[in-house]
Amino acid sequence: MKAVEIAKNIYFVGANIRNGDLFEGMWPIPDGVSLNSYIVKGEKTALIDLVRDWDNAPKSLTEQLTSLGISIEQIDYLILNHLEPDHTGWLEEFLKRNPKVTILTTQLGKKMVKSFYKNEENVTVVKDGDTLDLGNNMILTFYSTPNVHWPETMVTFNESSGVLFSCDAFGSYGCVDTPFDDLLDKPTHEFFDRESLRYYANIVASFSPFVEKAIEKLSGLTIKMIAPSHGIIWRKNPQTIIERYLKFASYMNGPAEPEITIIWGSMYGNTEAVLSPLIEGINSERIPVHIHQVPNEDVSYPLTSAYRSAGLVFAMPTYEYRMFPPVAAAIDMFGRKHLKNKKVLRIGSYGWSGGAQKEFDTMTADLDWECIEPVEWAGATDEETNEKVYEQGKKLAQLVKQFCVQS
Ligand code: FEO
Repeated sequence: MKAVEIAKNIYFVGANIRNGDLFEGMWPIPDGVSLNSYIVKGEKTALIDLVRDWDNAPKSLTEQLTSLGISIEQIDYLILNHLEPDHTGWLEEFLKRNPKVTILTTQLGKKMVKSFYKNEENVTVVKDGDTLDLGNNMILTFYSTPNVHWPETMVTFNESSGVLFSCDAFGSYGCVDTPFDDLLDKPTHEFFDRESLRYYANIVASFSPFVEKAIEKLSGLTIKMIAPSHGIIWRKNPQTIIERYLKFASYMNGPAEPEITIIWGSMYGNTEAVLSPLIEGINSERIPVHIHQVPNEDVSYPLTSAYRSAGLVFAMPTYEYRMFPPVAAAIDMFGRKHLKNKKVLRIGSYGWSGGAQKEFDTMTADLDWECIEPVEWAGATDEETNEKVYEQGKKLAQLVKQFCVQS
């Protein structure tokens, strides 16, 4: 990553993480992730958001600062929009090198500086609408955006350039080489479109009502550029990602897109064998289908697909009187991420006794899912079962259509 001037006296700096680690210790990032920080220069210098000591990120950050003629010791203000350690993990070392820096964060952020880094020195609490004047007409304004996605989160805005430093909000997985949306080729742009949804579904979705509140709160600002702390900078039309976030947030309580996601797992192929008639039944209503096998795929991907789909199918056998565990684990994650208000079908085989359906019903009781009649069969499928699965797939697709048209 190279330092890039994104507006007069405002610079993009940071690090690309490519070492194959999981994000938050659990989400796959095969194409890495960027930790974006920003330098804002007036007579004084501010650094917005930090990095974690992860895959040489501090070295990358300091090298870019050096390329701008700035040393860590010369930074006057460190603005912490969000305390999650991907943006603050290097704070202890940073403070050793620059003990006089003033940290600006929210009241809850101050508490987290203490709890994570045992530091109470030189922390200034900022509230909604507070400003920091760096000199040379460079003024930063702070707005709290609680629960996007931690309770202490805020954003920082520079009115003269129209740059909004949004930290996690409007972010994406994926390393960044060319930071601006308008300089990306089509495949790269499509990659960030996909990965911004996966990032949202994995990290932010549970807090969608707060995303809506934050966007409403910031709606009076003239935002010309959105500079998040992961992923690309949206400068061509920042409204694109704002509108996309509003759409993402709306998926939480449904209806989402008129699509169906199939999450399936099969021990010996007896559940897998009915996927063809199932898909044919759905396709007969011209509803797009997304298919995810677990545990072969990490839950991050079916979660993303399920989050944007109005309809879900869970295809799994009974395993020891309960659900096939990999599908149960996916459903558990969907519950944790508050995937509500879906139209749902469950199908699956069993050996000598059922039981999966009972556990499925219990596990999903609080999710506001409308479940149509399941299909279960002993052992291998037959023509009659295939026909039933076809009909239920078709029925689900019809329900999804009605749901999305009515709402
Ligand atoms: Fe990128 Fe919530 O940290």
